[in-house]
Amino acid sequence: MAANDSAKKRIKALTKEIKEHNDRYYKKNQPTISDKEYDLLFKELAQLEEEYPEFASPNSPTKAVGSDLSNQFTKFKHQVPVLSLENTYNTEELWDWVVKTGEDELYSLEWKIDGASILLYYVDGVLENCVTRGTGGIGDVVTENVKTIKDLPHSLKSKRTVTVRGEIFMNFSDFDEFNEEYGGKFANPRNLSAGSIKHKDPAEAAKRPLRIFVYDAILGKGRKGIKEHKEILALLKEDKLPLAPDTEIVSAKQLLKSIESFRKKKDSMPFPVDGLVIKLNSLEKRETLGETSHSPRWARAFKFDAVLKETIIEDISFAIGRTGKVTPRAQVTPTSLAGTTVTYATLHNQDYIDQLGAGIGAKVLISKRGEIIPAVEKVVSPPKQVFQIPKQCPSCKTKLEKVDDSVDLFCTNRHCPEREKNSLIFYCEKKQMNIEGLGEKQIETFYQLGWVKDLVQLYKLHTKKKELIELEGFGEKKVEIILSGIEKSKEKDFRWTLPSIGLNEVGHKVTEVLIEHGLDSWAKLLELSKKKDAAEELSSIHGIGPRTVDALLKHLKDKETLALVKNLISLGVNFTAKETEKSDLQPFIGQSWCVTGSFENFQPREKALEIITRHGGRKVSSVSSKTSHLLYGPGAGSKLEKAEELGVTLVNEEEFLLLLKKEGIPF
Ligand code: IVH
Repeated sequence: MAANDSAKKRIKALTKEIKEHNDRYYKKNQPTISDKEYDLLFKELAQLEEEYPEFASPNSPTKAVGSDLSNQFTKFKHQVPVLSLENTYNTEELWDWVVKTGEDELYSLEWKIDGASILLYYVDGVLENCVTRGTGGIGDVVTENVKTIKDLPHSLKSKRTVTVRGEIFMNFSDFDEFNEEYGGKFANPRNLSAGSIKHKDPAEAAKRPLRIFVYDAILGKGRKGIKEHKEILALLKEDKLPLAPDTEIVSAKQLLKSIESFRKKKDSMPFPVDGLVIKLNSLEKRETLGETSHSPRWARAFKFDAVLKETIIEDISFAIGRTGKVTPRAQVTPTSLAGTTVTYATLHNQDYIDQLGAGIGAKVLISKRGEIIPAVEKVVSPPKQVFQIPKQCPSCKTKLEKVDDSVDLFCTNRHCPEREKNSLIFYCEKKQMNIEGLGEKQIETFYQLGWVKDLVQLYKLHTKKKELIELEGFGEKKVEIILSGIEKSKEKDFRWTLPSIGLNEVGHKVTEVLIEHGLDSWAKLLELSKKKDAAEELSSIHGIGPRTVDALLKHLKDKETLALVKNLISLGVNFTAKETEKSDLQPFIGQSWCVTGSFENFQPREKALEIITRHGGRKVSSVSSKTSHLLYGPGAGSKLEKAEELGVTLVNEEEFLLLLKKEGIPF
């Protein structure tokens, strides 16, 4: 029972974590862990799911490829599922696969190009659609952007109807040149390539030095008589489609030797490669082996180890978030790694530091996945002492504590300067009160001057108008923007003010649920908290879990929170939800809408639901056969996949805005 329980928990945690990493990699182009770390998590999940299939989520990341969908493009249903590859990291593992697959077979050995995956749909030889891999089932149509790539034929001599798979990438030298022009703001060629094919403006995409290599084709009816991958590559070549260089068709015996020569050549390649792909040459044999819903059994990626660089931990500093969480970061001797200079690497928490045995003076290996966030992978020569996070907050000296079961340490002093500053920054953020002109820099300045230490003082900042104008780097115009931004924030209602004051467990979603259940003002929440059965009443609300109930009741009894809200109300900040009066326009009547992902014009996304309900629609929090529409944006995960399976009408932000326009709904 205990083993079952822990397997269930671990499967759930891994599923969530891998999905988050997929989002960071495919949608945001900002991965935070190395490919190897990712694959370890992935393999652990796959193994656990095999052992305990009853706990596997139907939307498990092991059953699908990560999604790159974004809300700006027309969607396209792929004709056949676009699969990914299973990774191997060493020759033993690869050889095990070869033995299973066929020691007498021929294999295609190809570079694994590190760019953005693309499918080219040619109909009677005409390039009709260029589509990203998307969820593997549905992709984004990016035809106009892709057509700007010089070497890509828009029509085929053969007049064939064929789907070609390829990778869009950039040469290192082109990337460097382009990046220099833009002040070095792009992290690496992969990110720039992936971002460029998703650019809103094809004219802008045309300026990017994009290239393409193709590596496979789905011939459909035209496959008759074709028995080998080698032949497919030859057809692609005849049609003048650009094939990647160096591809070899080798016997199993030659395979490992050839891998070694590819490995030697890897660092002198003009374009980024993150490994090799090994595929069975025989198409017939491929069919007998088949595929899982994630990847074919007839191919493997062989990843070269991540680039590791040696450096030294010179110091360890801390970030203290608004919740008080303390994150240690290693300051390292500046080291160039995969094109950028690394100056720090996160050390996460004490457990992580202990596992590594890290400390000041240690010689360490650092690596980056997608060259974004560096990680300390290994300690090469140990420090004199393994680092211990101080017992006291580095900023305010309050004793640090572990909250609940977390591995992280927290500063519990809410007047800790770092916490106060970060709370103010949070309140002003776009996703919260969206106060123009007030970012990290300005808040830091006002905080240091002692003018704004809390939200109440923020609303009194206008009394310092004269001094503000005289501050270096401010001036009348800027000050006007800031002060009117603060004043304007008073127009925002409870939907915004409650989540923005940063009470733990009380974000936008919880606020929306509370309002929906008639708890649409601070006064009503206070009234409820005084009732004997407050906890039961709150618990009975769908969408409010036990942790939220506890936290909410605690906040409603907390003297400082009560005083803060009281003062804010007396300063004119609105802690009552405005009526969402029903409109005469009711185009959504009879429809049930679910919303997932993030949106440019609806932040938080509940704003979109508000419009839908005001105009006759019903909102639902999960996708089921009763859901008629799913409004989705970047970051959409399992809901999108489920909706796709159930045939729910999918609507992206652009389409939704058009719909509102068509119906004459003001936005
Ligand atoms: S074969 C079903 N061959 O790697 C076959 N993929 O991790 C799947 N990639 O999304 C792909 N070079 O975009 C294949 N020579 C190559 C490749 C290659 C790069 C990318 C591809 C895919 C990803 C899989």
